[in-house]
Amino acid sequence: MKLPFSQLDANGRLRHLITLEGLGRDLLEELLDRAGDCQPNSAQRPVPAPLAGWTVAHLFAEPSTRTRASFELASVRLGAYALNLDMMLSSRAKGETIGDTLQTLESMQIDAFVIRDAEAGVLERAARQAAPEVSIVSGGEAHLSHPTQGLLDALTIRQCKGRFDDLVVAIAGDIRRSRVARSAHHALAILGAPEIRIIAPAELMPAAGEFPGARRFDSLDDGLTGADVVMMLRVQRERGGGAAAPDGDDYHRDWGLTAARLRRASPGAIVMHPGPMNRGVEIASDVADGPQSVIFRQVANGVAVRMAVLTHLAEARRARGR
Ligand code: CP
Repeated sequence: MKLPFSQLDANGRLRHLITLEGLGRDLLEELLDRAGDCQPNSAQRPVPAPLAGWTVAHLFAEPSTRTRASFELASVRLGAYALNLDMMLSSRAKGETIGDTLQTLESMQIDAFVIRDAEAGVLERAARQAAPEVSIVSGGEAHLSHPTQGLLDALTIRQCKGRFDDLVVAIAGDIRRSRVARSAHHALAILGAPEIRIIAPAELMPAAGEFPGARRFDSLDDGLTGADVVMMLRVQRERGGGAAAPDGDDYHRDWGLTAARLRRASPGAIVMHPGPMNRGVEIASDVADGPQSVIFRQVANGVAVRMAVLTHLAEARRARGR
């Protein structure tokens, strides 16, 4: 997803965060370092309330547990006021456009909008109409992009493996409809992971030309062999398409990560999943809860990454004198 405008300001810092695609390695590493400083046990935690006086509006038009809760916690822990508008119960349900909703809320002095939407292009339109001091942050856009998920996945891999430059990362499941896979691919390619594998049945494989540089596998057993990182994805039937893909027990038999299959990966491979999991479908419960799983570490890192993004945006705005 290439944006027709820059997400960066004149100082090379983020003004918006809509996609990781096109960002530089230095910027991503700065965000990961900053997220490390936002961990509860870090001696470098941000000074109290770096977002004091800010209001961050969280507008989620699709279900969410992890992203929404962690953005809200990040805002509050940084001293901002968190305005949490359930878009399913907002005036959007009465026909108001998202543009009018944003302009309405901007009139109430919002500093940043965190938006999740099923429609591609909403984030780009929001950024185009935002006032100069207002930032737009993606909480997940259609099948296209989930940049803070990509960052928290990269942070988790860096913490567990200490490096990117010789890793084999296997991403398996419904790649075609996955914004998580797209943002993980962007992040890992920028950070220098040399081998990214995408593993899916034909119905769930993205179109040719997507995921440039990734190796494609139509067998989970083959794709897992020798992997250092295994990222499993849920089948997203709610997005339509892929109807011919196997279901339930059939899916688990052919495409589910079991303890036996995981033994094909490298010793010490980590198991990741963005959540929500469908246990017994794409991942067996004993693997999800097993010693190689870092799934709940990913969740914890979500708060730190979102704190890092918000403090970066606030510092960038201060540096612009706004
Ligand atoms: N990983 C993720 O986006 O989870 P939620 O849908 O619960 O936010």
